[in-house]
Amino acid sequence: MSTEPDVSVQQGSISDAAADAVVVNLFEGVRMPGGATGAVDAALNGLLSQAIADGEITGRLYETTVIHTGGRIPARRVVVVGLGRAEEFNLVRARRAAGAAARAARRAGARSLATIVHGAGIGGLEPEAAARATVEGTLTGLYAFTRYRTRGQDGGGRRVESLVVVEHSAGKIAAFERAARQAQVMARATNRARDWTNMPPNDMHPGTLAETAAEVARSCGLELEIIAGEQLLAAGMGALYAVGQASQHAPRLIRLAYRGREAGGIDLALVGKGVTFDSGGLCLKPGDAMDWMKADMAGAAAVLAAAEAVAALRPALNVTFLIPAVENLPGGRAFKPNDVLRTLDGRTIEVLNTDAEGRLILADAVAKAAADGAARIVDIATLTGAAIVALGHEASALISTDDDLAAAVERASAACGERVWRLPAWPEYREQFKSEIADLKNTGGRAAGTITGALIIGTFAGSVPWAHLDIAGTAWHDRGKPWADAGATGVGAAALAQLCLDLAG
Ligand code: BES
Ligand code: MN
Ligand code: ZN
Repeated sequence: MSTEPDVSVQQGSISDAAADAVVVNLFEGVRMPGGATGAVDAALNGLLSQAIADGEITGRLYETTVIHTGGRIPARRVVVVGLGRAEEFNLVRARRAAGAAARAARRAGARSLATIVHGAGIGGLEPEAAARATVEGTLTGLYAFTRYRTRGQDGGGRRVESLVVVEHSAGKIAAFERAARQAQVMARATNRARDWTNMPPNDMHPGTLAETAAEVARSCGLELEIIAGEQLLAAGMGALYAVGQASQHAPRLIRLAYRGREAGGIDLALVGKGVTFDSGGLCLKPGDAMDWMKADMAGAAAVLAAAEAVAALRPALNVTFLIPAVENLPGGRAFKPNDVLRTLDGRTIEVLNTDAEGRLILADAVAKAAADGAARIVDIATLTGAAIVALGHEASALISTDDDLAAAVERASAACGERVWRLPAWPEYREQFKSEIADLKNTGGRAAGTITGALIIGTFAGSVPWAHLDIAGTAWHDRGKPWADAGATGVGAAALAQLCLDLAG
């Protein structure tokens, strides 16, 4: 797994930084760079402004230009990253621009980077948030999943070993140091979630996911409980058991607990969908729809990574982390359409489609969180293809029956540069999943598929404030982006950890 660069903050001028590459930026349409970029331009005798005048550097969003400094400043190279139009700039773009710049520097062979903070000047961003975005974007941009390559790696196995954030004004250093520390924990969470999600399903199945969680619990000092196989049936979790019953890897409910305050019960339960491979079961998916179904445990990865981050950040909050882990396969032992399953809260669910398995395993896990007395429940899942239809790949869908909790999830996500968009949860949608013979059925038809899928899960929270993130559109990139490799994005890991910080106040 990738090793992280060291991160530090220094007061001074970026033109004096002794790094292999220094990163500066340019907004689109700016002819004469100012600020730190202007200082570097001056030190280079106008090399940058010349390239701008010649139309070689345009400031277009995520454009990167690497320029050799010929010894005019200590750094051998300058990377200029385009920030797009100033009035459209935001924290999402600051993160991505930092990632794009770091990747360009790594491609050019730089092992040490110095960067300015993107967007705190004309970009109009709050400086500490911009600093955090810059560091987070750099560390997540440099992520590479290499453990299955045995020969030459992309980029010749190049690695960046250090990052220095350079800031001119002494008054901002303390805030930037805080931001950098926070960013390191959050980026590590994101990248850990990506590692687990990118793992192939022959190596990441319910058994190894449970082992991974056990390692996290041991290294972070968290309480651990694993209920496996037949024990799930005995405990009353018939839906979770059924989805996993055809696999040679027994289904499991993994629970970790963090205690951040002495007294009191569980303030928050985080529940992540852990389908280590989703073939669809007997309602088998077509082959190309299985292309990245190893990532159907991205919710679980986010929850586990958040557990690690929470243990590092130590908020004064009691949190449990629940992961229902299964492999959804067809076979002679598989659960079937028409089966009726009994859940932990005693309710029955009629199965109409074995590919709607996420809501089944989450029904039991969310019921468990409610039964354990959690004061709030947030679940996260690659639940529905319909979430991609609704929002594409730019935002996760948020569904909640509690305005305060929904607002808290929105705030935490925004602070981490992750977009969420709330969809309605009107009770009328519940009509769609009434069953003829059981308490409910596991599909509500094509209409509003993201909402009905969510509300089936929410039913099992009972009266506990509940929110749901559908990350089907945001957990995976089919193609590489300027700011990241193709593959798992680690979405939700940072936002859930942030939610714990925010709720602790
Ligand atoms: N894991 C899938 C959802 C999914 C699909 C995530 C595509 C990412 C990309 C989920 O288990 C599923 O198959 N959902 C079905 C539900 C339907 C059968 C009601 C879907 O969305 O088609
Ligand atoms: Mn499915
Ligand atoms: Zn699934």
